[in-house]
Amino acid sequence: MPDMTTLHATPTALPAWSALGELAAAPLTHLRELLHTDTERSRRLSASACGITLDASRQRITPAIHSALIALAEQAQVGAQRDAMFRGDPINLTEHRPVLHVALRGDPKADGPWGQAISADVARELDRVCTFADGVRSGAVTGHSELVFTDIVNIGIGGSDLGPRMCADALAHLTVAAPRVHYVSNPDAWALYSVLHSLDAARTLIVVSSKTFTTQETLTNAASCQRWLVDSGVPAERVSRHLVAITASPKKSAELGYPADQTFLFWDWVGGRYSVWSALGLPLAIGIGGAAFREFLAGARAMDDHFCTAPLAQNLPVLMALAGIWNRNFLHLPTQLIVPYASRLVRFTPFVQQMDMESNGKRTHIDGTPATVDTGAIVWGGLGIDGQHAYFQLLHQGKHTVPVDFIGVQSEDTPLPLASTHHAVVNLNLRAQAQAMAEGRSVEATRALLQQDGVAAAELDALAQHRSFEGNIPSSILWLDRLSPARLGSLIALYEHKVFTQAAIWRINAFDQWGVELGKTMAKQMEAPLAAAQHRPAGGKA
Ligand code: F6P
Repeated sequence: MPDMTTLHATPTALPAWSALGELAAAPLTHLRELLHTDTERSRRLSASACGITLDASRQRITPAIHSALIALAEQAQVGAQRDAMFRGDPINLTEHRPVLHVALRGDPKADGPWGQAISADVARELDRVCTFADGVRSGAVTGHSELVFTDIVNIGIGGSDLGPRMCADALAHLTVAAPRVHYVSNPDAWALYSVLHSLDAARTLIVVSSKTFTTQETLTNAASCQRWLVDSGVPAERVSRHLVAITASPKKSAELGYPADQTFLFWDWVGGRYSVWSALGLPLAIGIGGAAFREFLAGARAMDDHFCTAPLAQNLPVLMALAGIWNRNFLHLPTQLIVPYASRLVRFTPFVQQMDMESNGKRTHIDGTPATVDTGAIVWGGLGIDGQHAYFQLLHQGKHTVPVDFIGVQSEDTPLPLASTHHAVVNLNLRAQAQAMAEGRSVEATRALLQQDGVAAAELDALAQHRSFEGNIPSSILWLDRLSPARLGSLIALYEHKVFTQAAIWRINAFDQWGVELGKTMAKQMEAPLAAAQHRPAGGKA
């Protein structure tokens, strides 16, 4: 554990924080100048690792600001805090837990800083998950009437849904020969009916994913699934062949009839939003196969190694975290847009939204004092190409300045004759949008263009205002050389460590989530009278 007496209680106590405040108070050169006058600066704001290249040259960061940001990471002892996490120190102070999602993707040939016991537990469960997943894919694992499973229904919400579901879309090109995997998170009956109504119960496996096995939405859907299996002809005494539980609470899942041999475990030191690497990845492993799932883990491990060894100034998670802190705390920009351009990353932003906002949406420092600085940004977005035809107008000409993470894939593997043309269109748009946001187009340049186009003199001045662009919108581009299980694993780990680094600098606990409790408590309080009025036990069946 880093020496808690030397760790800052608040980043405002760090000399680099004050230096950054002074730099932010001075006039800042426009990006259109920074981009064209200082190539060394662009080089310092770019870095590559694990097949991912970060181009942060369109961030509003000068060499002096860059140096002060690196100093901030040093003074905040980001490295020591990172090492404490990897070592398994109980850094989740309010729940007295270690934070060891990194152990889930540890090197199977080495024990890792968390120790041999955890490595052995992880390896055992990973083997069970991959063996079961490959058994479902091969037909070795079957339903009550020995029919192979053609459809898997994953019931889960939040971190028990978003990760595997996002990855399944991102790696859809690897799932074509597998059983179909459906994801249901919403307890609205239509969400489940719309999946079940076309399925053959004899060939359907229900996977209930829940760390606590107490989440009301998940248990509501799970109970309906068990009812559907029996109503659809699966003998009650054989229903368990169609049930899988993935949980850190096996006693609870066993009480609800989930068989031990089809219950896959993870541990309380895995946060829900960091759990895709655990047994919760089973539906993904069924989709892509056990070998590809291990490649996915290896990609994350490669990013872990980079995070732990690269100098701060070439460290991708650190550079992304620092750019975010400059935008959030010094340029006072409250949101962060994430726009992938590859359509298979369609669910990536909602996934990062939970990871970032459930981690850093905090108002209390680690020591229990009120946060003295702004913390987690509002993360939003979706596919960039669609955004261009929806909300990019506001980005270019509205009254908000919104920092943007663009995510692109450099290679194309779609088996269509004109795929390379599609690919060129997509990535050209990504590049053009990043450049347009940075450079803008001045009123003078716009006026000259309009004049060339023959716009009447009387209209010129007014129209030039309407059609000019302030620019100076900060963005980063993340280029993946290809979209593979390993690259996806590296990309997710990159964002996980970015979130960690920001929390380490802000001195907040990124790994608890007390904010979700009040709503659940309120629901139970409101349900009691409602249940009484309907003469049914609270939390029970109608
Ligand atoms: O949103 C609160 C939360 O606890 C998330 O952190 C978690 O991923 C989700 O609900 C589901 O929880 P469980 O996996 O325990 O059902």
